[in-house]
Formats: sequence, structure tokens, C-alpha cells
Amino acid sequence: MSSERSSFTGKVGFVLAAAGSAVGLGNIWRFPYLAAKYGGGIFLLAYVILSVTFGFSLMVAEIAIGRKTQLSAIGAFRALDRRFAFVGPLASIVPIIILPYYSVIGGWVMKYISGFALGQTQRMADSGYFNAYIGKIGEPILWFVLFIVITTVVVFFGVEKGIEKVSKIMMPILILLILGIVIYTVCTMEGAWKGVIYYIKPDLSHFSLMTVVAAMGQLFYSMSLAMGIMITFGSYTKKEISIEQSTHQIEIFDTGIAFLAGLMIIPAVFAFSGGDQSALGQGPGLMFVTLPKIFHSMPGGTVIGITFFVMVFFAALTSAISLMETVVSIFMDRLHLGRRACCLLVLGISLLLGLLSTLGYSAWSEVKLLGMQFLDLFDFISNSVLMPIIALLTCIFVGYFLKPGTLIEEVELSGTFRGKHLFSVMIRFVAPVFILLILLSSVLNAFNIIQI
Ligand code: PFF
Repeated sequence: MSSERSSFTGKVGFVLAAAGSAVGLGNIWRFPYLAAKYGGGIFLLAYVILSVTFGFSLMVAEIAIGRKTQLSAIGAFRALDRRFAFVGPLASIVPIIILPYYSVIGGWVMKYISGFALGQTQRMADSGYFNAYIGKIGEPILWFVLFIVITTVVVFFGVEKGIEKVSKIMMPILILLILGIVIYTVCTMEGAWKGVIYYIKPDLSHFSLMTVVAAMGQLFYSMSLAMGIMITFGSYTKKEISIEQSTHQIEIFDTGIAFLAGLMIIPAVFAFSGGDQSALGQGPGLMFVTLPKIFHSMPGGTVIGITFFVMVFFAALTSAISLMETVVSIFMDRLHLGRRACCLLVLGISLLLGLLSTLGYSAWSEVKLLGMQFLDLFDFISNSVLMPIIALLTCIFVGYFLKPGTLIEEVELSGTFRGKHLFSVMIRFVAPVFILLILLSSVLNAFNIIQI
């Protein structure tokens, strides 16, 4: 670990950098398909409740650990308590698993940019288009390789700052576009209102344990929690910055964009398919199937389609860069290799794992582990197994070994910590029990021992 740590120039810098890493495909691609599949309004409610209690506490804990130790995850746990040193390396496995399949989805986004640019809007609006595309063997691999190579080039040559500047301009445009599309769908498409109601109004009859399991996994994913990343962000944060306020801002921003993305996609699913269960529950393809239909139906849809997917590409790229950057710096610290050698190593691993994810939809679609093809399996291992384990260990460590008071003191370096009681109770009692239940139920469910 280098002894000189750069730090964010100020509060706005910190919040923007953390939000830039947090906002990505998780918000725009993953949140809407989960919300559609796991109950609409009831999923949204579960997500928001988890976010302001559990997500808040875990994010404060991670940022405070980083700021207190001035180290990234691997060093931070070791420095605070040798017995918990293993949590750091465990957390760093998560970005290694996520980066490859994240890049596969990044490749899908690039394919859609090219599709709109070539004027294939009508073909892409066809219901079977997406599945036919990911079922091909060659093309999805090419787009995936292109996405991961672009990410590697940025990290290899250290030009992240330039990309971040571009993405800061893109983000407001993306939000405006999403808002525009929401207004268009809701005001002009018949049946869309039903979708708005499905998405906003909690209906207990749609609740299942999977609602909470999925909401919890999504919370980790979207806010980049339980993978060491917020610890690293914390280590760059100055002592006078309010961790509590920044956490609230990151949460509001991240959840706000996810909420809007759901509002853009779910009502359209109702408008196009009447909201039947198979359309709502289709999973990872939802955004790619639904959006071209909207763009096809709108005036100027091709141009809007290109612009939209270019913005999504930048949001995905900044997140992929931050994932890769994390993995590269872990490898540098552990393997004592140079930055560029580590970039190439990470590229190699990502190519291999990402290839499995793409082939899982085509040549190897018959291969199933725990009933899942590769992309779902990587998503399951990281979101439903490793992240809950890391979050659980973090809570036990902070709650019973380090003691919440130590981190409360760290937070209070910049003023009073208003949520400190919530923080203590969540970290010590509520979160550990809850995470354990969720972890057990999702694993037992995957092994078909229980049905949830
Ligand atoms: N939070 C990102 C998203 O929602 O797309 C995913 C992610 C990006 C996780 C960067 C971790 C990370 F370092």
C-alpha cells in the first residue's frame, strides 16, 4: 500500500466520486428487472426500508473503517484486529467475480448502441431479438471483449480522470433522458398506468421471502457495499467531511436513479404486454427487450436510443473502471507486481470468466450449476453468498470486537452523529440476524432444500 494517500478535494468531490462508482448498470439494468420480478411496489418498499436502516449503517461503517485506518480493505481489517484480517481478502474476491460479467452486460449495451446507429430500431423492438442475439456464439463475445479491453486501456494508461470528467457531463443528461422517457410512456401509452401502480403501490400478495433476498443483494450491489470498495473510498476521505451526511447523499442519489429506471421500464412492460408474469419475470433481458420497443414507438426514437445507450455505456464504464482499479490495486499489493502487469493479469482472468458467461447463453446453455447458467451463477455467488457473508462478518467485527463506539467517534470528528443509536442497534442486533436468515434461505433455496 502506498504511504502517500491522495484525498478527495472536498465533500462534493467525495460524494461525486462515490456516487459515480455506485451508479451503474446496477441501477439501470439490474434494479428494474428485480423490481419487476419480485413484486413491484413491495420490492420497492423492502428496498427503501433496507437502504435507510441496514444500507446506511453498513456504508457508514465501511467509510469510517477506511478513514480511521487510512487503508484499503485488505490492510484495514488487519490493522484493526488480526483475527479479522481474512475479511479483507475475502471482500476482494467480489469485484474479481463481478467485473467479468459486468463487462458482458457492458458488451450488450455496446451492441445496442451499434444497432440503433445502424438503423435497426425496428428489428431490435422485436420480442425475440434479444434472446436470438445472446444465443449467438460469436458476436456477444466480440462486444464483451471490446468492453473489457476499453476498461483495461483506461486503467492501464491511468486516464480515469478524463473518463470521470466525461461521465460527470453524461450523468445529468442520462437523468433527463430517463425522466423524458418516463413522461412519454406514462402519458402516451395505454396500460402504462397499471404498471406505475404495480411499481409504486406495495401489494402484500406479491410478497415472498425472495423479495427481501433480492432487495438485500441489490442493495449491496448498487451501493458497492460488502466488497471493500467503500473502505477504500473512506481511506481517501478527509476528517472534516461528514460521513453521515455524505452517506445520505450517496444513498439518495443512487436510489433515486434506480427508482427512475424502474419507472421508465416497468410501466412500459405493462403497456406492451399487459404486465403478465412471464414478461415481468424475464430477468436480465428486461431492459434490452423493453427499451427498443419504447424507442421504436417514439418520434425520433433512433436518435434517442443511441443517446440513451451511450449514456448507459459511460455509467457502466466508470463502474467497470472502478471495479478493475480495485482488483488491480489488490493484485499489486499482494503479488508485488507492477501496475501494468496486474492490468494484464486482471484482463486475462476477466476474459476467461466473461467468456463462460457469454457461452452460458449460447454454446453451453445446457450447462447448469445449481440450476443456473454461468452469468446467473456468478451473480448469485457474489450477491447472495459472498456479500452477505462479508457484511455479516463486518457487523460482528464492528459490533462485538471493535465496538460501534470506536466508529461513532470517527464519524463524530466532523460533528454530531445523529443516527448513532440506529447505527449501533443495526450493526449489533438487527443486521446480523437478518443477514444470517437471508443467507441461509437463499443458499438452501439454491440447493433446492427449501422453496422460497
Ligand atoms: N454499484 C455499481 C452498479 O450499481 O452498477 C456496481 C459496482 C461498481 C460495484 C463499482 C462495485 C464497484 F466498485
